[in-house]
Amino acid sequence: MMFKPLNSPIKNWSSRRVWLIGASSGIGAALAQDLLARGAKVAVSARREDALKSVVGQHSNAFVYAFNVMHTAAWPDALARVEQALGEVDLIVLGAARYDPQHSWEIDLDAVRASYELNVISMYAGLHTLVPYMLNKPGRGVALISSISGYTGLPRALVYGASKAALQNLTETLYFELAPKGVSVYLINPGFVETPMTAVNDFHMPSLITPKQAAKEIVKGFEKGQFEISFPKGFATTLRWVARLPYRLRFWLLHRMTNM
Ligand SMILES: NC(=O)c1ccc[n+]([C@@H]2O[C@H](COP(=O)([O-])OP(=O)(O)OC[C@H]3O[C@@H](n4cnc5c(N)ncnc54)[C@H](OP(=O)(O)O)[C@@H]3O)[C@@H](O)[C@H]2O)c1
Repeated sequence: MMFKPLNSPIKNWSSRRVWLIGASSGIGAALAQDLLARGAKVAVSARREDALKSVVGQHSNAFVYAFNVMHTAAWPDALARVEQALGEVDLIVLGAARYDPQHSWEIDLDAVRASYELNVISMYAGLHTLVPYMLNKPGRGVALISSISGYTGLPRALVYGASKAALQNLTETLYFELAPKGVSVYLINPGFVETPMTAVNDFHMPSLITPKQAAKEIVKGFEKGQFEISFPKGFATTLRWVARLPYRLRFWLLHRMTNM
């Protein structure tokens, strides 16, 4: 009982209808292509319609719906349009985000507001529409893409890391409340992935993986019914344990690990 997966393992993708939000590039785009190759029906959303179209090409199982997740009023219509195209949606992955590397001595408040608006508030906006939909038919699932940078404070992650920590906490609460009602809830915590988002980084990114590899890890996590899907394994596990150490030891280790 104690070792049962926290979510129902997804066994067969060919009968699944998945909606990926934040899928015009990077991890979301790779996940869309991976799931289409496994036979799922996939709807992809983000703001850039052309980019979404080039992610899925002419695939007959794909549906493109472009919208801005920050427009709260757009969510009900987006869900209705996706459901009309795919049929009932089984799994929704919320992955739209922005990354504004900042130090504490050069805070850009406009960027802080924009980051929180997208990385956190838009998630609540989406959940406001999606949770009632999930509860309407148990067996559905929702996944939020956070980051291993949400585990602990890290250099230059002043805004991004804190916004992702908020998502981890939010997703834990979602699990508590929705899992007993038959809804699967997933917390996806990637490490460094080579995408347009990380292209701005001018430092060495340890254990950097490709979006394709990230997509495979995410699919593996869904198939195992994991609550937390974190990767790459070694790096994510190390950081998770470091984050649990007493502060004196944690800060000392993080200084050494990041050279900052
Ligand atoms: N790359 C990494 O190392 C890494 C590590 C940990 C976590 N993550 C997380 O993984 C997720 C995907 O990131 P990525 O690295 O694949 O970055 P990415 O390629 O920049 O993807 C971000 C996606 O968000 C969409 N988006 C941004 N603003 C939006 C808006 N207002 N409305 C709708 N969609 C919007 C973008 O599309 P449009 O511009 O077309 O709207 C794009 O599809 C993010 O949640 C990120 O925080 C990434």
